[in-house]
Amino acid sequence: MAYSYDYYKKSADFLIDKFGDRPEIGIILGSGLGHFAAQVEDAVTVPYTDIPNFLRSTAIGHAGQMIFGRVAGKKVVCMAGRFHSYEGYDMEELAIPVRVLKMLGVRALILTNAAGAVNMSYKAGDIMVISDHIKLAGASPLRGPNVEELGPRFPDMGRAYTPELRALALRLAEKSSLTVHEGVYFFMPGPQYETPAEIRAIRALGGDAVGMSTVTEAITAAHCRLPVLALSVMTNMAAGVLDVPLTSEEVIETANAIEGPFTEYVRDIIANI
Ligand code: HPA
Repeated sequence: MAYSYDYYKKSADFLIDKFGDRPEIGIILGSGLGHFAAQVEDAVTVPYTDIPNFLRSTAIGHAGQMIFGRVAGKKVVCMAGRFHSYEGYDMEELAIPVRVLKMLGVRALILTNAAGAVNMSYKAGDIMVISDHIKLAGASPLRGPNVEELGPRFPDMGRAYTPELRALALRLAEKSSLTVHEGVYFFMPGPQYETPAEIRAIRALGGDAVGMSTVTEAITAAHCRLPVLALSVMTNMAAGVLDVPLTSEEVIETANAIEGPFTEYVRDIIANI
């Protein structure tokens, strides 16, 4: 189905009415990173199921709530629960959340995710500021009639990961106990983890980390000129690096282990955006 400007506006108008205000910054929380939502002060929580024209969360480790309030003095809206193509959504449907956030009025979008480390110099628990992505599989979230009110048919992707926000994140990393890299995120549609051969191919192609989310959101944001900062948590070494099977439990465990410093880091970024 083709979605129109009015389709997204219906969700946004409903949320503005519930929140009684407009957020400045949107944050989409990745697998196992939903605990950041506890940072939101004076929170107004709206389940996705209440929002007209919205999607429902099915993925493990994703709550399915929009949380509006304040973090570090800024008005934010957190999406605790994101949508992935492996859940069965059409790529076009994956544009919906970011377009609704844009129409709420956010001036920056922070995307977080759990990812496998492909770059051999990275370790589990490290963070990667995404500088760029590679997406060779799956359709675009911009497929279908272009929504002219939001952006052009053929958007430029050269600044999809906003250079100024990346520089800010790297600067603030210096006072964090986290190890923060900058690198290229390689999108794989999942839900199966990659094969060791796929990871070797991804490394040869220039990927530093691999994951099943984020790029559809970054593409949708680039289309409507919404600045993006994307942070990947290396929850595991990618397939074939270590001789152990990959499990979603390991992903959640690593995300939990860095909860404290990661929360502080994201707070500090929000304070300075
Ligand atoms: N591959 C794909 N997605 C992931 C991984 C991985 O190794 N870890 C966390 N999300």
